[in-house]
Amino acid sequence: MPESNRVWRLRKRPVGAIGDDVLSFAPEPIPEPAVGQFLFRLNYLSLDPTNRIWMSDMDQYMPPVALGDAMRGVVCGTVVKSNHADFAPGDVVSGLGVWADYQIGAPGMLNKLGPFGNVSVADAFGLFAVVGPTAYFGLLDLGVPKAGETVVVSAAAGAVGSIVGQIAKIKGCRAVGLAGSAAKCQWLVNDLGFDAAINYKTEDVASALKRACPKGVDIYFDNVGGDILDACLKQMNLQGRIPTCGLISQYNAKDIVPGPINYPMILMQRLKVQGFIVLDYANRYPEAIAALAGWLQQGKLKFRMDMYEGLENAVITLRKLYTGENTGKLMIHVA
Ligand SMILES: NC(=O)c1ccc[n+]([C@@H]2O[C@H](COP(=O)([O-])OP(=O)(O)OC[C@H]3O[C@@H](n4cnc5c(N)ncnc54)[C@H](OP(=O)(O)O)[C@@H]3O)[C@@H](O)[C@H]2O)c1
Repeated sequence: MPESNRVWRLRKRPVGAIGDDVLSFAPEPIPEPAVGQFLFRLNYLSLDPTNRIWMSDMDQYMPPVALGDAMRGVVCGTVVKSNHADFAPGDVVSGLGVWADYQIGAPGMLNKLGPFGNVSVADAFGLFAVVGPTAYFGLLDLGVPKAGETVVVSAAAGAVGSIVGQIAKIKGCRAVGLAGSAAKCQWLVNDLGFDAAINYKTEDVASALKRACPKGVDIYFDNVGGDILDACLKQMNLQGRIPTCGLISQYNAKDIVPGPINYPMILMQRLKVQGFIVLDYANRYPEAIAALAGWLQQGKLKFRMDMYEGLENAVITLRKLYTGENTGKLMIHVA
């Protein structure tokens, strides 16, 4: 084991995009696990849009990372030392941790991951830790899709969105995705089986939605908020559903973001708009994992990883989420 650790710490709250001075990355001693804890080495660091939320002091679903604290992250690692009877060196764990090579874990925040047959640790972590359950519960529990309905999803070529559209197809729906490049749109239709894809950066979204959704929209799975939410609100069918999963278009906003202009559509069309956080479904994770793993085995579900090397590259890699440079689940391979 090396003598020292490397830790990313939050130094200031970002204003707009995450600047170079927001976090520090420096060597520190390796911590010692107390009784009931274990020490694990980070293997994979998941980079998630919510990292930007945790850095800020906006109202949010868990406390923001305190200034000076190690940056919080969704992590996967291997136990190297254990003072907990249920964890032994070599066990693979995943859950909420920090951006550091070596860190302390305890059950509750960290749990054993898998094994999941022939699914690799990286894929199991990438698909089952956050992304897959988010798509599964957001679409099925809140969207409640029925065969023949039209499902629109934004950030459709991203980690959550790509799974949402494929589950919509599995459930017999028409799946329409919005994405930020021609290549992403082609991937949605040609590789994932979406019925249509709209490049929101080059097309007029309102008229493209009308063309792609001739029977209107029954479910809009919202990953982005902003103008795209507004355009989708206008196309919603009576008693449509909008699972509010994320608002990535405004995570880096410097100014107050105005509410949707088409808000009255919620009344006129009797829409059900409901926010959710995947952690709300923690006790139902096995259900989602079993379904996702089954679809994966049957070849009905494809999962794309966008993997980079080195903990030192965490911040420059994280920024790709907000510019759309990522192509799939963004992840860092650490060790
Ligand atoms: N509620 C929950 O529990 C939960 C859990 C996980 C994730 N989420 C949310 O789900 C959403 C997707 O997360 P993810 O991890 O799957 O990330 P992702 O979709 O893999 O990556 C983010 C994507 O967002 C798109 N994007 C960035 N800025 C945008 C903008 N201004 N307008 C429209 N699209 C933009 C980019 O794709 P383009 O190239 O298409 O622009 C980018 O690739 C995020 O909002 C995240 O916060 C929520």
